[in-house]
Amino acid sequence: MNIYEKLYVAAKQARENAYAPYSDFKVGAAILSDSGQIYSGCNVENASYPCGTCAEAGAVSAMVANGETHIREILIIADTNRILPCGNCLQKIAEFGDRETIIYSADLHQINQEYRLSDLLPQNFTLEKDHV
Ligand code: THU
Repeated sequence: MNIYEKLYVAAKQARENAYAPYSDFKVGAAILSDSGQIYSGCNVENASYPCGTCAEAGAVSAMVANGETHIREILIIADTNRILPCGNCLQKIAEFGDRETIIYSADLHQINQEYRLSDLLPQNFTLEKDHV
């Protein structure tokens, strides 16, 4: 299995564990970090709806908990032909990614689209005071 396939399988497996009894919309995510490791996550909903977390957030937490801080690629999977990270998750990806970070969108059969972070979030919030 090449790294691309491994990323897909990891996200798909994580999706199977998604806890989505309220939306019935299961999502999986897998990050390829600079070290070549893969970190996955799934959405975890809550009876108090705003407390729910996205799959991407889970994958980011798993990466950071393992001491890594750079996202090379991230793959998102759901049972739809076009799943994209929400705005909140794009900001989370931007914290640990860069303009070239690849975002793959996949369904249960294949990868359908490939973007760069800069395509989906051309600008993001930073705490910098002097922007060039
Ligand atoms: N969701 C994700 O996990 N990732 C996305 O990119 C979009 C939405 C989740 C949140 C919620 O549990 C469900 O999908 C429906 O919005």
